[in-house]
Amino acid sequence: MSEAILSASGVVKRYGKFTALAGVDLRIAPRTVHSVIGPNGAGKTTLFHVLTGTVPISAGKIVFDGHDVTREPDHKRVRRGIARSFQVTSLFQNLSVRENLRLAAQGVDARRALNAWTPPRGALAHEETVADVLGRLSLQRYADVAAGALSHGQQRRLEVGMALAARPLAIFLDEPTSGMGIDDLEDMKELIRGLRTDYTVVLIEHNMNIVMDISDTITVMQQGRVLVEGIPDEIRGDERVRTAYLGNMITGGRA
Ligand SMILES: Nc1ncnc2c1ncn2[C@@H]1O[C@H](COP(=O)(O)OP(=O)(O)OP(=O)(O)O)[C@@H](O)[C@H]1O
Ligand SMILES: [Mg+2]
Repeated sequence: MSEAILSASGVVKRYGKFTALAGVDLRIAPRTVHSVIGPNGAGKTTLFHVLTGTVPISAGKIVFDGHDVTREPDHKRVRRGIARSFQVTSLFQNLSVRENLRLAAQGVDARRALNAWTPPRGALAHEETVADVLGRLSLQRYADVAAGALSHGQQRRLEVGMALAARPLAIFLDEPTSGMGIDDLEDMKELIRGLRTDYTVVLIEHNMNIVMDISDTITVMQQGRVLVEGIPDEIRGDERVRTAYLGNMITGGRA
């Protein structure tokens, strides 16, 4: 593996007496799609929160792009190039797709902008970024359409685009295809697959077909630990992974 862009070691996250992450080691190679899978409650989202700085870590160390970011708040990690996909609620429903991306390129997030509106500055400088992102999203034809008028799948792609418009190094996507129909799934899959030419993608995804198709590396988590890691072919045939998901199905969770 080439030098990791993100390296986490001994990551522990406790919520009171409950240990959600019990010592996770993770190395993410640049310009790859690295998926994190595992049964419900395994700690995947918690790991994302800790890596992106959304919640403080209890113990362990996180190095991103050569910097120790373990104790840095999320807004500082954003400046280092860590991006999370925005939620639908953070899109400006009444603004066009292009205007949404322009604001994201300027680093204006929805809540901040709504609290204290600042007129767009240096908008022209961001046109190139916006055009590039529109192309990646396959939303050029919808550039002047209000975000709120897009289909569900298009809105989900635009959320990813909002994160891309900030020109991050790494983008974290937590279940970007949840609740999607079959056509939208395919579009999102192609979007994510294409990202790895320029970005590092860390992906939580329950759809195994997508995971197996687009991942360079897969980390399987169970009960706050890494169960196994490997390339898709290794994970597909791993008995421990099958057993972990089987246990989950018996207790009624999603596969
Ligand atoms: N804020 C919190 N306070 C207490 N416990 C929490 C908190 N957030 C998560 N947990 C617990 O940590 C465990 C891991 O949750 P997490 O959301 O990371 O799982 P996950 O792998 O993302 O699951 P899913 O596939 O269902 O999204 C769960 O048992 C959950 O109940
Ligand atoms: Mg989750």
